[in-house]
Amino acid sequence: MGLITPGVRFLAKWTPVLGAYGGVTFALSSVAAARFGYEPPTWILVAGTALSIPVLSSIYVISLKIRKSRQAAAYGARIVPEAQGKVIGNLDVLQQMMEKLKTGYPGDGLLELLELRGPVVNLRVLWSDLIFTASPQHIKTILATDFQNYVKGERFHFNMESVLGTGVFNSDGEMWKFHRSITRPMFTRERISHFELFDRKAMQVISKMRERLREGYAVDFQDVMSRFTLDSATEFLFGNCVESLSAGLPYPHNAAYPPPLPRTARGDAANAFATAFLEAQAIISIRERYGWVWPLAEIFKDKSAEPMRIVNSYIEPIVKEALAKKRAPSEQEKLEENDNATLLDHLVRVTDDPVVLKDEILNIMIAGRDTTAATLTFIIYFLALYPQVMMRLREEILAKVGHSRRPDYDDVRDMKYLRAVINETLRLYPIVPFNVRESINATTWQSDDPSQKPYFIPAGTKTAYSVFMMHRRKDLWGPDAEEFDPDRWLDERLKTYVSKNPFIFLPFNAGPRICLGQQFAYNEMSFMIIRLLQSFRLIELDLSSAPPEAHPPAEWAETTGRKAVEKLFPKMHLTMYTNGGLWVKVQESDGTN
Ligand code: HEM
Ligand SMILES: *[C@@H]1O[C@H](CO)[C@@H](O)[C@H](O)[C@H]1NC(C)=O
Ligand SMILES: *[C@@H]1O[C@H](CO)[C@@H](O)[C@H](O)[C@H]1NC(C)=O
Ligand SMILES: *[C@@H]1O[C@H](CO)[C@@H](O)[C@H](O)[C@H]1NC(C)=O
Repeated sequence: MGLITPGVRFLAKWTPVLGAYGGVTFALSSVAAARFGYEPPTWILVAGTALSIPVLSSIYVISLKIRKSRQAAAYGARIVPEAQGKVIGNLDVLQQMMEKLKTGYPGDGLLELLELRGPVVNLRVLWSDLIFTASPQHIKTILATDFQNYVKGERFHFNMESVLGTGVFNSDGEMWKFHRSITRPMFTRERISHFELFDRKAMQVISKMRERLREGYAVDFQDVMSRFTLDSATEFLFGNCVESLSAGLPYPHNAAYPPPLPRTARGDAANAFATAFLEAQAIISIRERYGWVWPLAEIFKDKSAEPMRIVNSYIEPIVKEALAKKRAPSEQEKLEENDNATLLDHLVRVTDDPVVLKDEILNIMIAGRDTTAATLTFIIYFLALYPQVMMRLREEILAKVGHSRRPDYDDVRDMKYLRAVINETLRLYPIVPFNVRESINATTWQSDDPSQKPYFIPAGTKTAYSVFMMHRRKDLWGPDAEEFDPDRWLDERLKTYVSKNPFIFLPFNAGPRICLGQQFAYNEMSFMIIRLLQSFRLIELDLSSAPPEAHPPAEWAETTGRKAVEKLFPKMHLTMYTNGGLWVKVQESDGTN
């Protein structure tokens, strides 16, 4: 297993192609020898082979292009405009995108490209089509109306497999249906036990924050939320909480003499698990960005192997135990479906396969944990940035549940402003900002301008889309699209924009693969926010406690829109987060104010 790295597999696949080039040159020279009695010297053979690679490849690429043009014409469609890089294979476009990923704001690079080439563009890096859109009608086609024709696909599956296996997030067709069907029942009804769980974890969050703030230090809210969602998810999914909150919160990078954190075996294990889990996610997202050549970066080792060893060593014993329990007759009745059943309890009733069980749990954790933690982080960022929004939200909360009562479903449902704040955050920071599918059969996308021919989408093409960019389009959301204004969900703007076309707002995707945890996430986030605002009356960013990498590049201030006013540095791997954390200080409520 260890020897066959992704890179070795990649070379094994492509070496025969190189061999074929050599073969063609050799055959040509044999023909020359037989017909004309001319034996070319070895150097000519070698040079010929070397030359034949670009020559034959070019012929191949050009013939594909001609075929594509003919097909497009047959569909009455036009070819999607291509990025015009300056370097062969658009390598400079790839390099620029990777650079923007490090130093840019989400969408940087692409926005300029769209400006130049039109609203739909083919990035075509290394001769592989990658058609990009931020139009609601195309995204609707991909996700809903023509769902059957767009899959995650073999390439995506191959990139993600060493981490995600074959779970609901990383499968297509019948396999996906199976996974979705076994997981869905967990999310179909609201469970009292969820709120009971959120409450225990939320109270722990608040007491940890209080402790640290009373010592006079700021708190990294992103870190706290990651711990909150990790602990909640592990308890909810398999009844065995990682207890990362108990490991203690990190101190600011510039704390003079930070007291040492209490070290416990449990805390160390929690931190190791969290770090490994994050690293595995970062690795698969880098693979996605390099495209089909990523295995070349993993010739010597599968980079996800080490972090996955740590993740698996945590989860596998838990799965084993659950299966053993299932076989013990005395425990049978405990497995009955009840309000407290975990996802694992539920899954072991439908399958005995430890790999399916482990994959499914990991998929749900990847799908549900960072997404929720990061959204909560961006919500608090906006509440700190806009104190008048914070005040109004707090009024709604205190009017409904007071300073200490535990909220229930009905309370959450009635809090309209809270929901508007969450929606507005998900609009500006949809945590899955970019996504990709692969077409099966050739098809077309309508042009936004109906007088224009539709775009041709060849069979087997990667189609990428950005809800992040769609969510900020002024033509879809109005001139104030880049402003944070929860009222747009409550006033006449709701009717003018979203109600008319719900597909302009897709933080959870749409269609048959819509997020399974949407309701769960709204509940978990609402609950956490309510508990926080009951306890804290003011939240402020503490930029002096944030490490250097948390500050947005100074040149952003000279641009326009959100990018110019941002006080954090949004970055993305599979999902978005804020670089270096979100360091905040809060003012506590004394229960009367
Ligand atoms: C604010 C929080 C969340 C956001 C913004 C979010 C967003 C999304 C998005 C955009 C997708 C589609 C990904 C794709 O198809 O490529 C997705 C899928 C999914 N989400 Fe969420 N999610 C959140 C929370 C959760 C939670 C809490 C859970 C479960 C506990 C969850 C479970 C899932 C699952 C299982 C899928 C895969 C569905 C499928 O492919 O059939 N999500 N989510
Ligand atoms: C793709 O085309 C083939 C052949 O026409 C057809 O059998 C198949 O159902 C199509 N698949 C999808 C997803 O449309
Ligand atoms: C679920 O757990 C709670 C507390 O952990 C307990 O009070 C309740 O009786 C349990 N419910 C069921 C159906 O087992
Ligand atoms: C928030 O967005 C959801 C769609 O995801 C919508 O159903 C809901 O009505 C919105 N809520 C508010 C208050 O705007």
